[in-house]
Amino acid sequence: MTTAENPAIASDTRTITLRVNGREVTRAVSTRTTLSDFLRDDLDLVSVHLGCEHGVCGCCTVLLDGESVRSCLMLAVQARGHEVETVESLSADQNNLHPIQQSFAEEQGLQCGFCTPAMVLRCKELLGERRERTDEEVRREISGILCRCTGYQNIVNAVQNAGRKLAGEA
Ligand code: FES
Ligand code: FES
Repeated sequence: MTTAENPAIASDTRTITLRVNGREVTRAVSTRTTLSDFLRDDLDLVSVHLGCEHGVCGCCTVLLDGESVRSCLMLAVQARGHEVETVESLSADQNNLHPIQQSFAEEQGLQCGFCTPAMVLRCKELLGERRERTDEEVRREISGILCRCTGYQNIVNAVQNAGRKLAGEA
């Protein structure tokens, strides 16, 4: 059914413009579409992983204006005019990994990888504030993202290693 035949469809849709991974994007979206579905389905940014879809697991975390948010709890229309970053923005290919990605690889900070894009983005936010982080700080700051595989220690090591790399010490 077209929007002309059913005006309810048209009224349910908004055109939004936002920046995603440094590029301006304009799309018509349903007012009910979550930011996570928009990023995955409309923009093909499949690093945005969906676990619980109700704000518990943190695996759908993206950066909105530099701050981590759970994209399953936001509507796409709420991101209008904002800057969204997913892990796809960090490196062009696997031969040129971002220092944070490199650190996760070196420290084996991932196993199945389901939580990893969220962890990497949270790490980027955290280290953007301050490079050097204690074990306790890292554990507290990543506690909103659940990892079922690693036992967390290697993720903590990866975040601290990334801090040293970004500070030019490793
Ligand atoms: S999928 Fe968003 S918090 Fe779990
Ligand atoms: S590496 Fe599997 S959930 Fe974290």
